[in-house]
Amino acid sequence: MKCVCSLACLCLLLAAGGSASAEETLPLGLPPVPVKADNPQTVAKINLGKRLFEDSRFSTTGKVSCATCHASEKTFTDSPLRVSKGIKDLTGTRNSPTVVNSAYFEKLFWDGRSPDLEDQALHPFVNPVEMGLKDHNPILRIIRKDREYREAFREVFDLDAEKITMKEVTQAIAAFERTVVSGNSPFDRYQYGGDKSAMTEQQVRGLGVFLDEGRCVSCHVIENDQALFTDNRFHNIGIGINEIQSDVPGIASAFLKAKARGSNVDVKVLTDPKSSELGRFAVTSGLNDLGAFKTPTLRNVAVTAPYMHDGSLETLEEVVIHYMNGGVTNAGEEVNYYLSGGIRPLDLTDEQVDDLVAFMEALTSPEFAAKAKSQGDTGSKKEEGR
Ligand code: HEC
Ligand code: HEC
Repeated sequence: MKCVCSLACLCLLLAAGGSASAEETLPLGLPPVPVKADNPQTVAKINLGKRLFEDSRFSTTGKVSCATCHASEKTFTDSPLRVSKGIKDLTGTRNSPTVVNSAYFEKLFWDGRSPDLEDQALHPFVNPVEMGLKDHNPILRIIRKDREYREAFREVFDLDAEKITMKEVTQAIAAFERTVVSGNSPFDRYQYGGDKSAMTEQQVRGLGVFLDEGRCVSCHVIENDQALFTDNRFHNIGIGINEIQSDVPGIASAFLKAKARGSNVDVKVLTDPKSSELGRFAVTSGLNDLGAFKTPTLRNVAVTAPYMHDGSLETLEEVVIHYMNGGVTNAGEEVNYYLSGGIRPLDLTDEQVDDLVAFMEALTSPEFAAKAKSQGDTGSKKEEGR
């Protein structure tokens, strides 16, 4: 117990020594938000970033903004879409991850191809299946002509209109995203808030399975004083790669050749389904990274279906069954050659499966819980039919 206390104190000290948001109390269960030294948080910058995030003029059709695929009322995703829809309803290859708590991720995107939120924000604007612009110039033209934007950029960055660049645009968007954090779930109140009645008995049992027989915690990490439910690492857990199983070497070498010829990785993985399944390999070219994707946070997972990088699993129960099968969605299929050593068949009872799902439902923050309730209803209907 002593250890838990001193870690918690350290955490508060770090928060106090940190950023402009230091005075705000951290949501229960979360560490201080990391802020880049050259991009300090200010209220005006955050407000500007929110406006940019929601501005659909920065797309070729004038209809798609960041918020189209990361909508606040959908827990900053486009749930229930399997893969995202950009301009002209063009579809990409991947499921839109939530922006909630992405401030904590050490690398962005399912394959980690982007190092920080500032860099990440450059890509969707110019991806042909997302916002579709040829380059970033149209964004700067709109901003320079818009009186409110001009005033905001002057206030925040002390810049004249013609001096505004994508650096400031993406800094403002990232500052906004760093405020989109949320903890304080029933699990947080149980684990860190001393409220032992915050989770149901079933959810408490589910936490036990998560920590113990399920071995989930080895990748979806829970710490003494906070929990991000990710190790910020990449693992092949057998999703998607089975689709290209017969020709992984061929697809991988074609991808590397295209990359060497200067093909844009961001465009390639979001427009070519086969390249998408190479996962982290597309970034590192390491064979160990074939079919490996970033461990996603499990916070708010009950309200962000469907699941996995390709949105191929519809319910949390299906996810647990995939893990039970040892890394294949349909029992009896052969596991892929590059499967992570951390994925082995689990021997869980039906009750334990239900408990584990119930535990994941305890990870929803209050601001997104209304939706959890309506989804919970359909969940239990499914349950009856099992
Ligand atoms: C057409 C839908 C779409 C639009 C528009 C869009 N995104 Fe995304 N976003 C996605 C998808 C899909 C991914 C995952 C892509 C991947 O990992 O390869 C993603 C990933 C992200 C991530 C990484 C999250 C993580 O867990 O690593 C962040 C942050 C993000 N988007 C922010 C933005 C911002 C900022 C904008 C506007 C500049 C934006 N998105 C526009 C669909 C979209
Ligand atoms: C070896 C590391 C590892 C272990 C162990 C592990 N996971 Fe995962 N988990 C991942 C990775 C990586 C993904 C994303 C895989 C992908 O999309 O290809 C993921 C995805 C998920 C998702 C989907 C989240 C989303 O937003 O799409 C859920 C839910 C989940 N895991 C729950 C669990 C549970 C429950 C257990 C224990 C039974 C578990 N995980 C064990 C690494 C792991």
